[in-house]
Amino acid sequence: MLVVAGSASRNLSERVAAELGCELVRPELKRFPDGELYVRVPQELKGEAVAVVQSTCQPQNDNFMELFFLLHVAKDLGAERVSAVVPYLGYARQDKRFEPGEVVSAQTVRVLLEGAGADEFVTVDVHSDKAMESFKIPARNLTAMPLVGKYLRRFELRDPVVLAPDQGALHHAECVAGELQADFDYLVKHRETPTKVKMEPKRLNVRGRDAVLVDDIISTGGTIVEASKILRKQGAGKIYVACTHAVLVGDALEKIRRAGAEEVFATDTIEREISRITVAPLIADALR
Ligand code: R5P
Repeated sequence: MLVVAGSASRNLSERVAAELGCELVRPELKRFPDGELYVRVPQELKGEAVAVVQSTCQPQNDNFMELFFLLHVAKDLGAERVSAVVPYLGYARQDKRFEPGEVVSAQTVRVLLEGAGADEFVTVDVHSDKAMESFKIPARNLTAMPLVGKYLRRFELRDPVVLAPDQGALHHAECVAGELQADFDYLVKHRETPTKVKMEPKRLNVRGRDAVLVDDIISTGGTIVEASKILRKQGAGKIYVACTHAVLVGDALEKIRRAGAEEVFATDTIEREISRITVAPLIADALR
């Protein structure tokens, strides 16, 4: 197998290749004067199993185009099998038609991945399972949450409780809590009066306990900031924040730190300064 490193996942690609003990191919990427992308794979791919690793975080459209070029050129150069490894799948949140006439972006992306020549698709903690449903090629959604849970064991957590900021992320909290042998819960909104909304853990009392907030994505940080404020108000101890995909729009990280988070960390599905956990072993296992 050969691992082809997309520009948005250079470090992760290297780690995946090291896990697999296989060769890492760094494609040549250039811009034409008008801004169009030039891609060249300086390697014999004929008859090889090739894994193209490329997250489609910001700049999403450029990263997607590069991914499509890499998949297509691998197929075109005679690769026997081409795996599209997209650790963070952009456009997955628009997974249905919320308003008449809207594009279902997740479906468009699927069609383009298949059309570019992918024989299989691998991603991590995709925002919604719906985005996985209509793939015609084998498609796998891996979860990084056990790795997040294991990473948390290095901290001396006091009577920890793992919390999802909403019910949709409860399965992530449960998975992390399983690794820590801790309690888990999610935050729920109650409307106290027509104008007053109260947010609190569904079942558990967090007073005096360290809290771990987990989510699949941190984008603007708004969700985590709101959740941290509530936990503070309710007397939680230290607050640890973890996610798979550190999208981190603008000053999201600073906002979360200002809201009192003790530690904020993520995986390397998107390569950021807080990417302390690598999903390379997970991806390598899926490709083996
Ligand atoms: C939403 O359903 C996701 O799981 C995250 O909670 C959301 O994307 C976080 O967004 P933000 O950081 O902008 O609040």
